[in-house]
Amino acid sequence: MNTATALNLDRQESLREEVLRGLRAQPRRLECKLFYDLEGSRLFESICEQPEYYLTRCEVEILERQGAAIASVLGPGVTLVELGSGSSSKTRLLLDALESPAGYVPIDISGEFLEESAAELRRVYPRLPIAPVVADFTAAMPAVAELDVPAERVVTFFSGSSIGNFDPDAAAALMRSAAAIGGAEGCLLIAADLRKDPKVLEAAYDDAAGVTAAFNLNVLGRLNRDIGANFDVDGFEHRAVWNPDASRIEMHIVSRGQQLVRVGGVSLELAAGEAIVSEHCYKYTIDGFAEIGRMAGLQREALWTDSGERYSLQLFSQSAGS
Ligand code: AVI
Repeated sequence: MNTATALNLDRQESLREEVLRGLRAQPRRLECKLFYDLEGSRLFESICEQPEYYLTRCEVEILERQGAAIASVLGPGVTLVELGSGSSSKTRLLLDALESPAGYVPIDISGEFLEESAAELRRVYPRLPIAPVVADFTAAMPAVAELDVPAERVVTFFSGSSIGNFDPDAAAALMRSAAAIGGAEGCLLIAADLRKDPKVLEAAYDDAAGVTAAFNLNVLGRLNRDIGANFDVDGFEHRAVWNPDASRIEMHIVSRGQQLVRVGGVSLELAAGEAIVSEHCYKYTIDGFAEIGRMAGLQREALWTDSGERYSLQLFSQSAGS
């Protein structure tokens, strides 16, 4: 067996263990990072274009209309570190607005995708030092000081409101380590979706074209492909409900009937109507997100919203003594 095959088998085994741990828990749960196989990533791109999914359009609006204001608060000579950079397409709005950026460090778990988008960025910004890092930043943040970019004025950028997919304690821990990438002076520019009419929220996570439903159920197909599970995808349905007490949309995969499923060599019995939790999407008030920042030892320095006040970009610095 060659090393690559051994590695894949290791990955498959840890995926199998992680999935089984979640599916045996009560309530049953699948980690939302499982959404993003090739098909899931394609479906997510399509979600961002659905009329009900306002988040992406709001973020673009903020970057387009308020890019200059953001750049003036951040100041010249910033090295931008981006968590989960993907194609970096929205980031170009920020890089274009920044005064003499000193470097760009896109961090993403998908190495192939990262190299492709870094090559494209190098064509667009030939004088900007770009140092891509393949990493799972939820496991460990890379040290910018060890990279080939200036590390004096580091701003970590976490876009897309992905912080909403972490429960509050985990969100605070992630924000703390994200800001600290740039040392004690490092700061964090982060997108947070805002709490609003539940009907708007539920529609954003259950679009009429059924793209979010396909995205949610694709996780079952992915487990069939990757760990030899035998989910009958048609035996399940998508559900997105607003939980006002926890201030989050909960995405569920609901079993249409009683059924037996084999996952990684283990049989699981699902009752009719039983739900597997596949994602939490927290929505914050302006004060509520400042509180998450405080839990992280951060202080909010600035806040920008879209014209409809549906979505925000927020800048945090590290409080002295935290
Ligand atoms: C990636 N993340 C910010 C998306 C969200 O809105 O929570 C994932 C998503 N799930 C369903 N639609 C989009």
